[in-house]
Amino acid sequence: MSNCYITRRETFNAAHKLWREDWSQEKNDEVFGKCSNHNWHGHNFTLYVTVKGLPHAESGFVINLKDLSKIIKDLIIEPLDHKNLNLDVPFMKGILASTENLVIEIWKILENPIREAGGELARIKLIETENNFVEYYGGKEPY
Ligand code: NI
Repeated sequence: MSNCYITRRETFNAAHKLWREDWSQEKNDEVFGKCSNHNWHGHNFTLYVTVKGLPHAESGFVINLKDLSKIIKDLIIEPLDHKNLNLDVPFMKGILASTENLVIEIWKILENPIREAGGELARIKLIETENNFVEYYGGKEPY
């Protein structure tokens, strides 16, 4: 039997800016464009967390979505929602607040708790805007 992939969707909104202190205003503007705006900007993010595994014999679940939802809400949504990614979020301290970097940090936080809940994290997908999103597979090949 092969793996099933199950996904939980959560949403949050947050402010950020893309900015390097070690670069000039001009360089920041050139590389980051409008995202470098000094007084921040916000996004309504949509987060997809995909877990893989075989359905358990008794429950028929790869992972109980109630458990998965609670893990994501407690560890990710609570610290991020209505926050400034550059200033308010402990796990983003000192990290450039790009969607790519955010996804990698989310992976690091979720991997073990999901394993403890009986699943294996397979993919994090984070939608920043209608047109821009990032997927991360934890350094493994997709699926
Ligand atoms: Ni942005």
